[in-house]
Amino acid sequence: MGKEKVEIFDTTLRDGEQVPGCKLDTKSKLEIAEQLDALGVDIIEAGFPISSPGDFKAVEAVAKLVKNARVCGLTRAVEKDIDVAAEALKSAIRPRIHTGIGTSDSHITHKFKATREQIIERAEKAVAHAKRYVEDVEFYAEDAGRTDNEFLARVCEKVIAAGATVLNIPDTTGYCLPEDYGAKIAYLKANVKGIEKATLSCHCHNDLGLATANAISGARNGARQIECTINGIGERAGNTALEEVVMIMRQHPGMDLYTDVNTKLLNSISHLVSDRMGMFVQANKAIVGANAFAHSSGIHQDGVIKNRETYEIIDPLEVGVDHSAIVLTARSGRAALAYRAKNLGFEFDKLMLDAMYDQFLIMADSKKEIDDNDIEVLVKQVKH
Ligand code: KIV
Ligand code: ZN
Repeated sequence: MGKEKVEIFDTTLRDGEQVPGCKLDTKSKLEIAEQLDALGVDIIEAGFPISSPGDFKAVEAVAKLVKNARVCGLTRAVEKDIDVAAEALKSAIRPRIHTGIGTSDSHITHKFKATREQIIERAEKAVAHAKRYVEDVEFYAEDAGRTDNEFLARVCEKVIAAGATVLNIPDTTGYCLPEDYGAKIAYLKANVKGIEKATLSCHCHNDLGLATANAISGARNGARQIECTINGIGERAGNTALEEVVMIMRQHPGMDLYTDVNTKLLNSISHLVSDRMGMFVQANKAIVGANAFAHSSGIHQDGVIKNRETYEIIDPLEVGVDHSAIVLTARSGRAALAYRAKNLGFEFDKLMLDAMYDQFLIMADSKKEIDDNDIEVLVKQVKH
């Protein structure tokens, strides 16, 4: 069997935007949606139309703008929500309604004060109602991560029969371990009648730092859609990071999974989202953090200068970063100092380099990082 495609469902504009203080205005949502479309994601979840008039307008505007990706709007399993989402999506070339309800005993008992049978009935009704507007209906079983597999399978069977095309299996609380989340997807694939008519989707939260591992485990067990956000932003500790799952599938061809994402745009879209949301990306964030391709210890710098692949598994150009950085700190060695000085046009014999390195260490012990201006000062010192 050849490689199989995993669809990328981006929810930066919906789950990502649930980060406190990171609300986006319509202009910023449109800018990001345009870049997501250029990036090659398959589905853009543009918002939750019934949540506010502003979000309704934003979803409507994204639906008008986007040319390639499907545009999706979130709803609860409530008719009015679905009517409003359908209205917001009516200009989309390929609209999707994303409806659903909590399925774990905790949600059923405390949130809905209902029975399992009532939840199934509400789920079926919501899907059937959405189906009156659009062909493409995704159903989410909220808190599927803590829902027992037998009941989850029954819910899935019923909503497929009602017309759901995609089954979203959210680990809403980020509780699952990768083996368990993968086993849940495998169980549904093996036990849900009619599963061949629907796509299983992973939607994982990062409360235990496992959102990416869980989504990949789901895909390896048969899910063919991953829901994720740029920079992994989202409710609480965030969602699966888009850039991480895309690069994992790309760097591990043995998984036989691929996406249509143009990875060269990952760095620029990460900056765009961070800027418009006013949310910094931590320096050590995989793929898009400022230090993801920076080397500061002498041993690593020497290795990278000799051959980049000694300490880098990704070519920075592949993700839109123009070069690896050799950062000069008190832990750096002579090779790094000579390399950075050479980039500024200075070359030395061994004696001069040794003299400069002694001065460099004194300076580096008093500063966090040595920059190009500092290198010029050091060069002047040893040349006089
Ligand atoms: O985490 C979750 O369960 C969700 C659903 C609303 C899809 O975001
Ligand atoms: Zn979520």
